[in-house]
Parts: sequence; structure tokens; C-alpha cells
Amino acid sequence: MTASDSFIPYGRQDITAEDIEAVTEALRSDFLTSGPRIEEFEEAFARCVGSRYAVAVCNATAALHLAMRVTDIGPGDRVVTSPNTFLASANCASFVGATPDFSDIDPKSYNLCADRLEANWQDDTKAVVAVAYAGQAPDMPRIGELCRSNGAIVIEDACHGTGGGFHHEGAAYKLGGHPWADITTFSFHPVKALTTGEGGILVTDNESYANQARRLRSHGVTRAPGDFRGIGSDSPAEMERGPWYYEMSELGYNYRTTDIQCALGLSQLGRIDNYAQRRRDIVAAYNEAFAGLPHFKTPAVTRPEDIDQISWHLYTTLIDFEQIGLTRTAYMAKLREVGVGSQVLYIPVHLQPYYRETFGYGAGKCPNAESYYRHALSLPLFPKMTDTEVGRVIEAVTTIHP
Ligand SMILES: Cc1ncc(COP(=O)(O)O)c(C=O)c1O
Repeated sequence: MTASDSFIPYGRQDITAEDIEAVTEALRSDFLTSGPRIEEFEEAFARCVGSRYAVAVCNATAALHLAMRVTDIGPGDRVVTSPNTFLASANCASFVGATPDFSDIDPKSYNLCADRLEANWQDDTKAVVAVAYAGQAPDMPRIGELCRSNGAIVIEDACHGTGGGFHHEGAAYKLGGHPWADITTFSFHPVKALTTGEGGILVTDNESYANQARRLRSHGVTRAPGDFRGIGSDSPAEMERGPWYYEMSELGYNYRTTDIQCALGLSQLGRIDNYAQRRRDIVAAYNEAFAGLPHFKTPAVTRPEDIDQISWHLYTTLIDFEQIGLTRTAYMAKLREVGVGSQVLYIPVHLQPYYRETFGYGAGKCPNAESYYRHALSLPLFPKMTDTEVGRVIEAVTTIHP
């Protein structure tokens, strides 16, 4: 690696001069937090994905937690998600005292397999957290219909897929903007399609979910007279509900985002389609270069018509490390030697010590996810990658394979 061959990480944000200007303007304004940019960002984001309401929060873990709260998931309820996801997709069920559970993935898309979900359905399942791994949606219409017919809620975890979508029966839908999810969550962590530093958002067409999420993001407090239940009559506050008056009727959190972050989000949102296109172009270049490479599997698009819809977050390959005589650690080290980063996403969540010890899960529960994990490796993918960098990744990978 020479000085000009700087390290290519597996993901990286893109911050432009306009972004910096937008953030600077927010810093110079009267509001650092809870100002007008939050609502502006929420409205723009809801419009972008085609949902009625959006509630911006401090990160997507908080958005998932709020999704559980507003849909009244709690003790005695089972929440099923994919084992091939970030911890938060399952942890949100634990936050509210529900039982997180895992249904195996489809070996082609690495997403929840709708057939398995249906075959293993249990009566106490009250919600499914359907993760769009790497940006590709699982079969949302099937999952949505299965859940509805069983009285369960669908939370779409679209943290990987901002700006992306899928087709169904000839029509195009955006993640967060289709009828098969009750709530969709997105993450704005720097490696994601759009960043606000840390950040997340919950979108829904359900007004009551949106209103409750808004209250819960700020301690469960309301200042809206229509929402007042009234403090007990022995309280002096009951006597006069002046302009200072606020009420807390349910236990909430400080999950607020800031005007500074939403200024960045608004600025980034204007480029979301370009970002998604650049990600698709890089994926196409990789797929072409790696086609037929021995012991190497490129990502599959399960619905070919989605090829121009997916906003890829990750380029995850499956590599037969044993066949090429390298451990995954050694393979990653070889890439690193030539300045190419890589990452393993994800260790199956049900194998984490917390899930083994608390719920008794273990190896063999989700064999497809476990086999996937043994072979998975994600290569660099971010919109700012230059063609030269894409070429360097291709060269690094093809050189390793015999
Ligand atoms: C699939 C998925 N869900 C949820 C989250 C949580 O997002 P955040 O980091 O914004 O809390 C992530 C973050 O990596 C994720 O990848």
C-alpha cells in the first residue's frame, strides 16, 4: 500500500460543503434542539418514503423501542425477528419485557424466510420485526398478510435501506411507504445511506402511534390541552392550567434528536436518490467483476425487478474460506494489507450470550443464519467511493482467489 492508496473502509459517510453550511446555519440559529428543523426533516422524510407521519429520534434503537411501546407489546408477547441483524432488532422486544425470538433466514436473500415464519408461527407472536438486510426487503407483502391474519404487528426494520424499495405485482413501493408494515424504522448512523451523526426515525400511517411516539420521545410529557388527563384535584397545579402547564401520563424517555442533526439530515436527504444509484452502480461493478470467481458468492436479488429499487447498504459475499485455504481473519488481513477494509455482519443474534442465557437459544436454532455467518464478508460500499477505489477492491479480491 502506498501513500496514495489510502485505506478504504467498508462504509463511510459523505459530508459536503452544503451539509456543513446547513449545520453551521443551525448552530447560528436560536435552536440547537427541539426547533423547527426537526419537523421540517420529519415532513421531508415522510414525503420521501411516502408515509403519513415521521418521528425523528436520537437513534434507530430508540425508534425500535418506541415502536414496541406504541403498539403495546409487552410481557407474554413473542416478537420474532431475523437472526441476521444488528442486536437492536431483537433487543427492542427485551426492552419492553416481551420474548424476542428468531426465525431462520432464506439462504438467497439472507432475510427472514416467509415460509419458515409461517410454518413455525406461535400463537403468542404479537409482532414481527422484518429486517431489510443490506437494503433488500424481505417478502413484505407475505409477511404483512401473515401477520395481519394472525393479529400481529409488523415493524419493518429498514435501518439498512433508506431510499430503497421493492416491487409487488407491478407497482413500486419504498421501504416505509407500503401497506404491509405498521411502523418502519430507519437509522442515520454514519455508515448508513443518510447520516445525522447518530439518529433514527420512525414512520407510520397511524396517527395515534405517531402521537404517542412523539410524547414518549420526550418523557411521556404532553403540553397539548386535548391530551390532558388532569392532575389529581389535591394538586395546586390542577387549579390553573397556565402556559407552563405540562402533564406526564405515561413513562417516556429522552429520545430527542436535535436541530443540528436534522439540519444535516435535511441536507443529506436531497442526495438520497443519487446515493442509492451510486451504491447500485458499485454493486453492479462488483457483481460483474466477481461473477464466476471460485468459492465466492455475490449477493442475489430475490426479485429481479427490484434491481433498480434497492438502496444497498452492504455488499455481502459468501466465501468458502476452507476451500481457498485461508481463515476469514487471514483473508481480511490480506485485504487490509492492500488497504481494503471488510466487515462481518452479522453474528447470529440468537447465539449471543445474553440470548443463550436468558432465553435458552443456541446453535442449531437457525441453521441457515449460522451457515451464512461462517462464510459472510462485506466489502467496501459507500457512495463516495471512486471508480479507482472500486477497482482496488476488485483487484484485491480477485488476487486472493486462485
Ligand atoms: C438492522 C439494524 N437495526 C437497528 C439498528 C440500530 O440503529 P442505531 O445504531 O441508529 O441505533 C442498526 C444499526 O446498525 C441496524 O443495522
